[in-house]
Amino acid sequence: MKLEMEKLIAHLKSQGFVFQGSEIYGGLANSWDYGPLGAELKSKLKKMWWDFFVKRNPYNIGLDTSIILNSNVWKASGHLGNFNDPLIDCKECKSRWRADKLIEEKFTDMNVGGWKNEELENFIKEKDIKCPKCGACNFTNIRQFALMFKTNQGVVEDEGSTVYLRPETAQGIFTQYKNSQRALRKKLPFGIGQIGKSFRNEITPGNFIFRTREFEQMELEFFFSPDDTTDWFEYWLEKVQQFLLEKVQLKKDNFILREHDKEELAHYAKRTVDIEFKFPFGTGELWGIAHRSDFDLKQHQEHSGQDLTYLDPATNQKYLANVIEPSVGVERLILAILCQSYKEEQLENGERIVMELPYALAPYSIAIMPLQKQQKEQAFNLFEDLLQEFDATFDETGNIGKRYRRQDAIGTPFCITIDFDTETDQSVTVRNRDTMEQERIKIEDLKDYLNNKLK
Ligand code: GAP
Repeated sequence: MKLEMEKLIAHLKSQGFVFQGSEIYGGLANSWDYGPLGAELKSKLKKMWWDFFVKRNPYNIGLDTSIILNSNVWKASGHLGNFNDPLIDCKECKSRWRADKLIEEKFTDMNVGGWKNEELENFIKEKDIKCPKCGACNFTNIRQFALMFKTNQGVVEDEGSTVYLRPETAQGIFTQYKNSQRALRKKLPFGIGQIGKSFRNEITPGNFIFRTREFEQMELEFFFSPDDTTDWFEYWLEKVQQFLLEKVQLKKDNFILREHDKEELAHYAKRTVDIEFKFPFGTGELWGIAHRSDFDLKQHQEHSGQDLTYLDPATNQKYLANVIEPSVGVERLILAILCQSYKEEQLENGERIVMELPYALAPYSIAIMPLQKQQKEQAFNLFEDLLQEFDATFDETGNIGKRYRRQDAIGTPFCITIDFDTETDQSVTVRNRDTMEQERIKIEDLKDYLNNKLK
């Protein structure tokens, strides 16, 4: 059965995963806040990425750079000149659209990235593509729309004080590449990872948290010698898939790989492969892996006047490093995980919604429940003890069936019930979210049992 986004969004709101931003003031278009469980899920996913791509990778280190950078960074990177979307206005109802998205939403297997404005305009006319709001086909010509949020730093609002919110975290890494390499005495090849907020004044944000104006990115810039014969692009493409399959546990059937053709490549890229997820509203980019060559370091070297070359101790040669960049949005990956996890199941005694989240990402790993009031104190003591080692919650309201449903609905892998017999047999009942099977476990064995299962 196809997942309906409205159902998922309503569920995530009711369970405390995602709320509409500024809701009590009527909201702010396309802004979303992460509730207590969403914040937990996000933080676990970011830690998972950091562990895999930074801490447990033999080559890499991490970094945390500013959101607001010297504006020359954006001149050098090309964002001030090139980071635009093709904007088109409906002359009838005055609504504003992205010309490329109008086409791709109508012809879902087309990709028009890289088309010239004229080609887009002609195609819209030829195919009589209509304004999604009023149904007319009467558009203005395309204008390029700058995607960076602009503001001023300090008290004076003039051109000299203009600064931008970063549209990607990558440039912070490039500007601190030399400092990081020197300070950590890194030899090529090595990578620098970063997680942080990025901002884009998207013309057509939407599809819930898929495209927003404020989002987080997890980016790795991997630097290597131009003479290195290792295929680092394939290495990182493989690593990203390993992360998706083994850590995030996305099903292989749920995503595809798409190689960019020449016309579609971004201004900095030599090769790009997108990993696209099959979202309920259509297949969309999840993770981009790009070969950025030495484009960024060369640009920053030129614009800053600083030497960003690397002196190879083995050959005594100086050169600019090449770069492979795997880049993913935190929220987009969260959306893929949530879409895959949400299940409605018909049971013998009713129905349940279950979030089949990977154990490592579930906001709570275990829920502790006293069967009746009489066991509350004993259950609470056990909860306090387990809380030191596990992500645990305590649930004492409603009948036990309702409590199981509640925990299923937020993806808690194990429920632990303290009942009449616990005092005498020093055992508890452990119930599995996915199989719904129950096992009697001795309290003294409980931590080992859980550690084993949650591993
Ligand atoms: N540094 C390269 C870069 O930023 P990108 O393809 O523009 O490349 C990388 O973005 C990833 O960031 C995307 O694959 C997507 O997961 C995420 N992303 C980009 N724009 C986004 C937006 N408006 N909302 C949510 N996520 C976004």
